[in-house]
Amino acid sequence: MSAPTALAPPVPHHIAIVMDGNGRWASKRFLPRIAGHKQGVDSLKRCARACDARGVKVLTVFAFSSENWQRPVEEVSGLMDLFAVALGREVPQLHADGVQLRFIGERVGLSARVLQGIEKAEALTAPNARLILNICFNYGGRWDIVQAAARLASQGIAVTEQHLSQAMALAHVPDPDLVIRTGGEWRISNFLLWQSAYSEFVFTDKLWPDFDETELDLAIAAFGRRERRFGKTSDQVCIPPSPAVA
Ligand code: IPE
Ligand code: IPE
Ligand code: MG
Repeated sequence: MSAPTALAPPVPHHIAIVMDGNGRWASKRFLPRIAGHKQGVDSLKRCARACDARGVKVLTVFAFSSENWQRPVEEVSGLMDLFAVALGREVPQLHADGVQLRFIGERVGLSARVLQGIEKAEALTAPNARLILNICFNYGGRWDIVQAAARLASQGIAVTEQHLSQAMALAHVPDPDLVIRTGGEWRISNFLLWQSAYSEFVFTDKLWPDFDETELDLAIAAFGRRERRFGKTSDQVCIPPSPAVA
């Protein structure tokens, strides 16, 4: 007779992350803020690999918000440059690792160089299915709801929850199971307003460049302890324990 094995805690299918704290990471080291953003790219690569290794199928990250244009012009142009350079440098390896890249957000307002990088990366990695990596860039949850509603209106389609969901920018993936925000703030900052309706949230003080596998495992473990009720009662959702093995 073999001993009953403990059920492995569930791994979220879809994790979404507000990658916050790059600027503070740099300031603490007397470095320019852009150094923190550069370090943030490495943290994202590490996180994508770690998610894949743990069986996560979709990772959605917030890289540049609709409101981030209001930052000092040097920071915005530094971020745009870094984004274009990082795309050129990192996409081949991500492609080799089977990652499908999707860029979520408003394309109007992005430079030709950035747009070209986005389009090339999406076309190259489209057949990959190991991990979907959605990069929210020039993205806002309000923008997404408005563009979806406008699309339905222009096509004369009734505004229902189902139609709106299908018109939103993340229609190709299920809603996030777990939303993580690094950097110590407890707010959503216009991230997945519609899609996070029933996500579990984990907030950590770790600054994004310091977010490593251990932190990811802590967040996944916290997720595993949550009871997701989706409006039902605890009795309705809890799985009765299986009878003891004789
Ligand atoms: C998140 O880090 C990255 C972007 C918003 C582009 P921040 O740049 O917001 O870092 P902090 O919050 O100032 O430390
Ligand atoms: C949210 O972080 C946006 C991204 C991580 C891209 P912010 O640093 O812009 O959010 P606030 O301003 O602190 O709410
Ligand atoms: Mg911030």
